[in-house]
Amino acid sequence: MSNNSRNKNSHKEVLVMLVILMFVSEVRGIGVNWGTQATHPLSPSIVVKMLKDNGIQKVKLFDADASCLNALKGSGIEVMVGIPNEMLYTLANNLEAAEKWVEKNVSAHVSSNNVDIRYVAVGNEPFLSSLNGTYLETTLPAISNIQAAIIRAGLGNRVKVTVPLNADVYQSSSEQPSTGDFRPDIRDLMLKIVKFLNDNAAPFTVNIYPFISLFNDANFPVDYAFFDGYSTPIDDNGKIYNNVFDANYDTLLSALQKNGFGNMSIIIGEIGWPTDGDRSATLKYAQRFNQGFMTHTSGGKGTPMRPGAIDAYLFSLLDEDAKSIQPGNFERHWGVFNFDGTPKYNLTLGTNPGGLIPASGVKYFPRRWCIMSPTSNLDDSQVEPSVSYACARADCTSLGYGASCASLDLRQNISYAFNTYYQENNQLDTACKFPGLSVITNNDPSVGDCKFKIMIQSSTPSAQRSIAFKLKHENVLVVMVILLSLVM
Ligand SMILES: *[C@@H]1O[C@H](CO)[C@@H](O)[C@H](O)[C@H]1NC(C)=O
Ligand SMILES: *[C@@H]1O[C@H](CO)[C@@H](O)[C@H](O)[C@H]1NC(C)=O
Ligand SMILES: *[C@@H]1O[C@H](CO)[C@@H](O)[C@H](O)[C@H]1NC(C)=O
Ligand SMILES: *[C@@H]1O[C@H](CO)[C@@H](O)[C@H](O)[C@H]1NC(C)=O
Ligand SMILES: *[C@@H]1O[C@H](CO)[C@@H](O)[C@H](O)[C@H]1NC(C)=O
Repeated sequence: MSNNSRNKNSHKEVLVMLVILMFVSEVRGIGVNWGTQATHPLSPSIVVKMLKDNGIQKVKLFDADASCLNALKGSGIEVMVGIPNEMLYTLANNLEAAEKWVEKNVSAHVSSNNVDIRYVAVGNEPFLSSLNGTYLETTLPAISNIQAAIIRAGLGNRVKVTVPLNADVYQSSSEQPSTGDFRPDIRDLMLKIVKFLNDNAAPFTVNIYPFISLFNDANFPVDYAFFDGYSTPIDDNGKIYNNVFDANYDTLLSALQKNGFGNMSIIIGEIGWPTDGDRSATLKYAQRFNQGFMTHTSGGKGTPMRPGAIDAYLFSLLDEDAKSIQPGNFERHWGVFNFDGTPKYNLTLGTNPGGLIPASGVKYFPRRWCIMSPTSNLDDSQVEPSVSYACARADCTSLGYGASCASLDLRQNISYAFNTYYQENNQLDTACKFPGLSVITNNDPSVGDCKFKIMIQSSTPSAQRSIAFKLKHENVLVVMVILLSLVM
């Protein structure tokens, strides 16, 4: 081999290395949160295909749903499984329960099933101020038991524990990130948790929500929530902040640094923007925020305090119409995709050059809607109780102030309520029987951005259960009618 060709070979090696490096940094890519609190969830196999079609290589779950994990089998997608807060007490007090959890929900999937589980998220925002300290005692012992169980299962090098925390676990005494530290009431506990994670080479996971800053504070500067410039940037000893995400991330870094953990890896467990249910929850803002975030983080630029790649999971993949609206009407509308897997807006993730690719193979109920009968009277005394009934049992969050259906007239508004109840009940005839008020139509009553949804044919046991339950009751009715007609 001549010198020359060796040189060429080493050039080749450099090239190969570069390609591998590029590949590796691309593999990290953006992740998404896959929640399933929907009345009509997409089937897991459709979701996994959709993830792959869009080049999404990391997914975060809120539990360890076997049907989701089975669908992820052999997909090559990295998975973070979750443990709901309600399980923390048991797992904290019972090592055997933690071992069983890991055996059933991690080991079984990793070994025989080829699911690439990388993290276990123990709890979900357990120290949120609004939870009143319910999980303060149990979170660390649960993390510790799960970690012990992971090691016991021989997965210590492969699967890391973490705990997704809301950014309200830290704060700063000024607008400068360098003044950041953990919230005083939980500071000692946070330091124990951080030390535990650090000792086990596990990441700190935080959920950062500029939308909530805007939602909570009418005076919050809108441009500071986004990534395309802010007229009065914050100068923190020469570090310049022109978006609240960077400032928030570096406030956490300051808190970690100040307490001797400045090298910990950080995962953004949730980041995103909702599209309905509040005046700031619009398609335009959501696109601006999510695309801005993708562009902001794509070059590996990082934040002023920590240049480099940012590891993040978008919140969320899909809308979930069965989520609690305790945080606000927007809570059911965080999806980058609608509940049925159609994209809400154009978003380039770096892995999907042509924009978002919709879910394929989705089956819908027939195109028919339940509306207020054109001949019925708006003053009818049954209107009010009927709308209340429908909206107490189905999703009316798009009707609220500032939402996509807020400008409907009263008749359309009532129709929207009737329809959402009818569709969530799988278009059962009995679900469009508001006394003398409702009819079924084949003409789409949607008005502008206000969509009168049609549900998808969902194969989930929960949806089937509720249909079966209702059918049983209908059968009882039919039987009674037959019996009555026999008697007469
Ligand atoms: C596994 O996870 C599921 C879903 O979160 C949960 O319902 C179940 O109790 C867990 N299994 C064990 C053995 O803890
Ligand atoms: C927390 O306390 C408030 C006020 O006492 C109460 O309204 C709320 O329901 C509590 N939340 C939880 C999760 O216990
Ligand atoms: C962080 O890592 C750097 C470089 O590896 C090292 O010099 C420094 O001592 C580390 N700091 C801590 C707090 O571990
Ligand atoms: C979405 O954005 C990509 C990249 O900018 C572009 O190629 C594509 O045409 C856009 N799609 C739509 C539907 O606007
Ligand atoms: C429409 O319905 C919602 C929910 O029932 C209600 O909050 C809203 O005020 C109604 N709007 C109009 C114009 O009637």
